[in-house]
Amino acid sequence: MQRIFAKTLFKNKVVIVTGGGTGIGMATAKGIVELSGKVVIAGRDKARIDEGVEKIKTHCAEGAEVLGLQCNIRKRGEVSNMLTDTIDKFGRLDGLVNNGGGQFWSPAENISPGGFHAVVDTNLKGSWNCMQEAYHQYMGENGGKIVNIVLMSEMGLAGMSHSAAAREAVKNLSITLGAEWAGNNIQINCVAPGIFPSETAVAAYGEQSKEIFDKSAANVPKKRLGELYEGANLSEGTLSLDLIPQILFNLTDAVQYTTGWKETLDSRTKLVL
Ligand code: ADE
Repeated sequence: MQRIFAKTLFKNKVVIVTGGGTGIGMATAKGIVELSGKVVIAGRDKARIDEGVEKIKTHCAEGAEVLGLQCNIRKRGEVSNMLTDTIDKFGRLDGLVNNGGGQFWSPAENISPGGFHAVVDTNLKGSWNCMQEAYHQYMGENGGKIVNIVLMSEMGLAGMSHSAAAREAVKNLSITLGAEWAGNNIQINCVAPGIFPSETAVAAYGEQSKEIFDKSAANVPKKRLGELYEGANLSEGTLSLDLIPQILFNLTDAVQYTTGWKETLDSRTKLVL
């Protein structure tokens, strides 16, 4: 796959990607190791993480490494261990991509208290747990880059009330922490990739998948959803979420980059600062 970046762009850099065993997280992780980085994929399901590691290994450029760690981001102790294990193994932490999360589609009136809590807990508290632990264990002293994966939900998102509320809270948290931790040289951005028809999304949305995907595609100027290779790569003339490596490595002014994306491409991806 053709990319514009030097193959050594992430040499000696260490990035954690939560939910890195599947979907957008895995595409991001592959994008990092293809650029010689060291990536930790963290997720709840050990088998999925192990499988993800095997797949990502086949993409490793020279010097790249992948480590899989089981971690439920809802559990602070597990997040703390995940950060400690990463730093013990690699000695540093340059980036954190908070991609782990998820939701199910449901009219608001049918969401149970447990269902609402689970979605908020994973998407909001999970991201918070990872950011605060990253701060305490490494970034507070050394700086770093954080990318939070969110939704295009600023105008609300029918059928996703739990997740839209949680993701908007993550955006706000990102702004607040970005300001509080600016002096620590920590940069926080959010990326809202839109719907990617990954296996995980199909599993989460069940029999509503087709309707959700079709309706979403109809609202995209290009009239199609993103493909996962677009999750981390720049290929086939398509500017895409290579945005994530770019932000992690500070290659470009993210706002300008996003503007270019929106004007020339299909506005499926939106960066929120
Ligand atoms: N991806 C989805 N839910 C998750 C969780 N609780 N922990 C880690 N990754 C996840």
